[in-house]
This record gives sequence, C-alpha cells and structure tokens, in this order.
Amino acid sequence: MSKNERVDKFKRIMGKYPTGVTIVTTLDANGTPTGLTVNSFTSVSLEPLLILWCLDKRFSSFAAFLKAEKFAVHILSAEQADACWAFAGKEPDRFSKVKWELSVNGLPIISDSLGTLECKTDQQIDAGDHVILLGEVIGLKAEDKEPLLYYSRNIGTIPDHWPAYPRQS
Ligand SMILES: Cc1cc2nc3c(=O)[nH]c(=O)nc-3n(C[C@H](O)[C@H](O)[C@H](O)COP(=O)(O)O)c2cc1C
Repeated sequence: MSKNERVDKFKRIMGKYPTGVTIVTTLDANGTPTGLTVNSFTSVSLEPLLILWCLDKRFSSFAAFLKAEKFAVHILSAEQADACWAFAGKEPDRFSKVKWELSVNGLPIISDSLGTLECKTDQQIDAGDHVILLGEVIGLKAEDKEPLLYYSRNIGTIPDHWPAYPRQS
C-alpha cells in the first residue's frame, strides 16, 4: 500500500469515528477574537481538570493559539450547526455569525453552547502536522441542551431511537 493509500484509508476510518463538535476561541496578540471548529477535543484528567485538543499547524491563526495563555472550548449544541460551518470555512469574519461576549477571564465566549470550558494553557506538544494543546479548566458553564454530532463529514443530532442498546444493569 502506498503512503497516499494509507493516508486515504486512515481518513476513511477516522471519518467513521463519531464525535461531538466544539469551537475553540482565544484572543490574538492584537486582542482580536479568533477561533476554529474542532472535533479532536477530549477530557484527560479530573485531578487537576485537564482537557486536550489538536491544532493543525496550517490554521491561519496558529500563532495566536501558540502564544495564548488561555483559550475557551465550546461544546456545540444542536442549534449551532451554522456556527460549526462558519468556524470551519473561509468565512472572513467568523464572530459576526455568532452571539459572543468577553468573559471575566478575557476570553471570547459564544452563546448557546451546551458547555463552555475556559482553560489555562498547560502544555503544548508537537505532534506531526498538529500541536496537542492541553488546557487546565479554570471556568465552566453548562446549559441543558442537546449536542451537535459529527460523523462521516456531516453534522447532525442524536437520533430518535437513542439509546438503541440501553445498559441492563
Ligand atoms: C467537524 C470539524 C472538525 C474539525 N476539527 C479540527 C481539529 O480538531 N483541529 C484543527 O486544527 N482543525 C479542525 N477542523 C478544521 C478547522 O476548523 C479549519 O481548518 C479551520 O477553521 C480553517 O481556518 P483557516 O482557513 O482560517 O486556516 C475541523 C473542521 C470541522 C468541520
């Protein structure tokens, strides 16, 4: 199998791995909000509270996140499909597409997310064409909403027949 075939197969397999969707935001050196859609997010540790996500080195505001001491992860709700695509495409002014405000921690916070985690950058780990960003959670906000899901290059919501196989015990 050639390298390209391996990469294609890897993408096909990973594309079938369902995830939630987040938008990660911060302020750049000029104090301008920047952010992107991210599905590589996961929780890592309870003591201390740590999360991670992976940032593509080609992202236009890559330098802003490398310099940032803090960032905010928004776990998107089912009503935020437009925000998901706006923060993943060539939209020049992403923040004009959402309602947002600066938090007391000085982070751009997007409204209507089902969960918001404000984080202090803990570690940055070089990983191939990405950098793994570990954050310590310094602020949390939760709203009672349904999640947005990502699967096979599409977004959607939890199907009506969920849970299909409920736990018996
Ligand atoms: C569902 C979804 C998940 C994504 N996950 C990530 C991710 O985990 N890390 C990342 O760096 N880019 C991810 N992206 C791509 C970035 O959102 C996209 O490359 C970035 O917004 C491009 O911005 P730019 O054109 O300003 O460089 C994802 C895109 C989508 C649609």
